[in-house]
Amino acid sequence: MSAQPVPPVPSSAVPQNAVAAAPERNVVDQAPKGEVVLKITDLCVRFPSDEGPVNAVQDLTYEARLGRTLAIVGESGSGKSVSSMAVLGLHNPKRSSITGSILLDGTEIVGADEATLRKLRSNTAAMIFQDPLSALHPFYKVGNQIAEAYLAHNSVSKDVARKRAVEMLELVGIPNPQRRAKQFPHEFSGGMRQRAMIALGLVNNPKLLIADEPTTALDVTVQAQILDLVKSLQREFGSAVILITHDLGVVAEVSDDILVMYAGRAVERGLAKDVLARPQHPYTHALLQSLPSASEDSDQLQTIKGTPPSLVNLPSGCSFHPRCTARDRVPGDACATVLPDLRVSSPGRQIRCHLANPEQVLAQEGAS
Ligand SMILES: Nc1ncnc2c1ncn2[C@@H]1O[C@H](COP(=O)(O)OP(=O)(O)OP(=O)(O)O)[C@@H](O)[C@H]1O
Ligand code: SF4
Ligand SMILES: [Mg+2]
Repeated sequence: MSAQPVPPVPSSAVPQNAVAAAPERNVVDQAPKGEVVLKITDLCVRFPSDEGPVNAVQDLTYEARLGRTLAIVGESGSGKSVSSMAVLGLHNPKRSSITGSILLDGTEIVGADEATLRKLRSNTAAMIFQDPLSALHPFYKVGNQIAEAYLAHNSVSKDVARKRAVEMLELVGIPNPQRRAKQFPHEFSGGMRQRAMIALGLVNNPKLLIADEPTTALDVTVQAQILDLVKSLQREFGSAVILITHDLGVVAEVSDDILVMYAGRAVERGLAKDVLARPQHPYTHALLQSLPSASEDSDQLQTIKGTPPSLVNLPSGCSFHPRCTARDRVPGDACATVLPDLRVSSPGRQIRCHLANPEQVLAQEGAS
């Protein structure tokens, strides 16, 4: 990930010793290689509601690179799906307000017309969901659906498209693909439907694949198979993958980079292995503490106290402050009054937190 310009900590109201010193601008990034295929800058997504605008995503900036997997994690309602759907222009413009920039393979998505979006979907980027039936039409044979998607973007005969569909089913590990191509989605098992949806998503060799909780509904063995499949297909196609998941175990296994979201905002970004080994944001730390594997004795398992805030009335200051056990370590009331910027905290790492020495504080928290 590239280092973001580091804005100064905003507000003279913050006690001088309350916040981290502004890091140098040219912090050397442990920059991942790979062409940037998606660049999101200052993305905000709002939905109108009777109570007021729902601030589902705010000031979100990140990028995805060819050949790398970016995991987006966070509790339910943190804006993972809303931000990813915006990448494919899937929000109804009449029922949402979207600002900022989403550059997908060089094309601006925010404000793009439907014809541009249609071309980009499945040709440049594809999305696979938790529920394959939301992507597969129940009344059309699986092979025909994949062939149609191929035909929509390639000037080939129906015969060639049908062959391509069978090849794709074979590639995603569906046995007897010739026969399976002629079946309907309901004739497939859950795991096989997931594989078919992946085949559908990848048929046009997209540069970006977004997988939104692709394994949650599957049993553990099938989950592992699907993740292995995504990983091996990524190697084969060289695409960028965004993996949205609740499961930090999954992140550790398949991701290169990680973005942690809380209440619509990015709170930590970095290399997945580094963030998981040494989280710097109290929220990431709490998420990891709540993993069953974080404690050998399940009686010791911690949960994050409290619930995520309303996105209509976000808390003042840091959105996490009502739940944060480290806030006492920041002098004054900065946590409750000043929204921290996302700042470079160490090479290749960004956090949205006022703590000056987060790793040290969190190490003490973990030990207490
Ligand atoms: N069309 C909509 N209109 C109003 N609010 C919406 C709309 N879509 C999503 N939201 C709200 O935006 C917030 C973020 O939703 P999102 O689906 O991105 O969460 P998520 O992080 O994907 O959660 P989960 O892990 O449960 O899938 C939620 O509070 C949700 O209720
Ligand atoms: S800014 Fe304060 S409340 Fe927010 S995560 Fe950091 S220490 Fe906790
Ligand atoms: Mg979601």
